[in-house]
Amino acid sequence: MNELVNAAFMELQSALVARKLYSADHQSVREATDRLLELLRKIFVERAEIAVFAVDDRVVFEGDVLAASENLADRLFADLGRHGIDRVILRRGLKPDEIGRIVEVLIDTKSDPPPALTPSAHVLFGFIDTHAADDIATDGAAPTQQRLEDLWQDITEGRSPNDSNVCNIVSSVSTAVTASASAMLPLAAIKRFDEYTFVHTINVAILSTALAEVVGLNQKAVHELSMAALLHDVGKQLVPKELLNKSGRFTDEEYRLIQLHPVDGARLLFNAPGVPELSPIVAFEHHIGGDGSGYPKVPRGWKLNLASRIVQVADVFDAMRTHRPYRPAMPREKIKSIMCGDSGPCFDVDLVEIFFRMVESRGIPEEDRVAA
Ligand SMILES: [Fe+2]
Ligand SMILES: [Fe+2]
Repeated sequence: MNELVNAAFMELQSALVARKLYSADHQSVREATDRLLELLRKIFVERAEIAVFAVDDRVVFEGDVLAASENLADRLFADLGRHGIDRVILRRGLKPDEIGRIVEVLIDTKSDPPPALTPSAHVLFGFIDTHAADDIATDGAAPTQQRLEDLWQDITEGRSPNDSNVCNIVSSVSTAVTASASAMLPLAAIKRFDEYTFVHTINVAILSTALAEVVGLNQKAVHELSMAALLHDVGKQLVPKELLNKSGRFTDEEYRLIQLHPVDGARLLFNAPGVPELSPIVAFEHHIGGDGSGYPKVPRGWKLNLASRIVQVADVFDAMRTHRPYRPAMPREKIKSIMCGDSGPCFDVDLVEIFFRMVESRGIPEEDRVAA
C-alpha cells in the first residue's frame, strides 16, 4: 500500500511540475493525472481514504516515511506548505477535476491575494498551525510559458532579462529533469500537432539538460546550458510566423530567411545584457554540423562548443519526433538511424549514443500519436 501511495503522490507532483511547464490541457499534464487516478483506483479498492502528512520535512503515510519523502517534501509539500497545508486526505470517488483544481491553485503564485485551496467532496486538507500562509506568492512568478515569452521579449528588445525570470524557468526545467526523472522525462516526448516553438524550446531544454547531467557537466555548466537551450531559437522571432508553420516546400528565398535565425538569435543574445556568453554561442552553432555542414557557413575546421553539440542532439531529436505540417512524426528507431547514419547530418556520435541510451533507459515513450 505504501508503494502505491508513494507512487500516487509522485504522480500528483509530476502533474504539478508538468503544469508549471505546459498549459493545463497539455498531454503531459493529462497523462500524469491519468496515472494518478489509476493508482488511486487501486488504492481505493482497499481503503476508503488515505491521509498523507508532512512532519518535520518528512512525508508520512500511516506512520511510515514514504520512499520519495525527501523529494515530495522539497516540492509538492513545499508548495502546499506555502498555502499553510501539511496534510492531504484523498477519498474514494475522487474526480479528475478535483485534482486539476489542486494543481491550478498550486501553480498560481501570481494572484494577489493567492487563491485558496478549498476542500472538495473527496479532497480534504490539514492546516499547519502557524502563519506559513503569510509567505504565499512572495516570488510573484508567472507560469513558465509567460515567463519564457517575457524573457524572449526582453532579449528581442535589447533589455536585460529579469534575473528571477531566468532562474525560475531554469529551475522549472531542472526540477522536471531531476525531481522525478522517470515520470517527467517522458513529458519532453509528448507532442501535439499544433505545437508551438515554446513547447519545442522547453522540450529541448529538458532533454539537453538531462544529457548534460548524464555526461557529467558541473552544476554551473548545466545551468548555463539550460538557459542556452531555452534561448537557442530566439532568432525565430524575426522569421515571419507563416513561414514557421508552412506546409508546402520553401522557396529559396523563404529558406534563406529561416536560415537567418541562428545569426539573428546570436546577435540578439550578444546585445542582451546579463546573458551568459554560452547562449549566443549555442544559438549561432545549433544548426552547424560537426563537419561544418549546415548553416550559417563557418570557416573550415570550426570546432563546435560541447553545449552546442548537446543542444543540437536534443533539438533534432525533438524536431523529428514532432508532427510537422510538411511531414509526420518519425518513430524513434528511424530518428536514431538518421542521427547515427552516414546519410544524416554530422552529429557528435558519442553524444548521440549516450542520448539514445538515456532516452531508452529513462523510458521516454516510443512515439507521438501520428495523425491519421
Ligand atoms: Fe533552430
Ligand atoms: Fe530548435
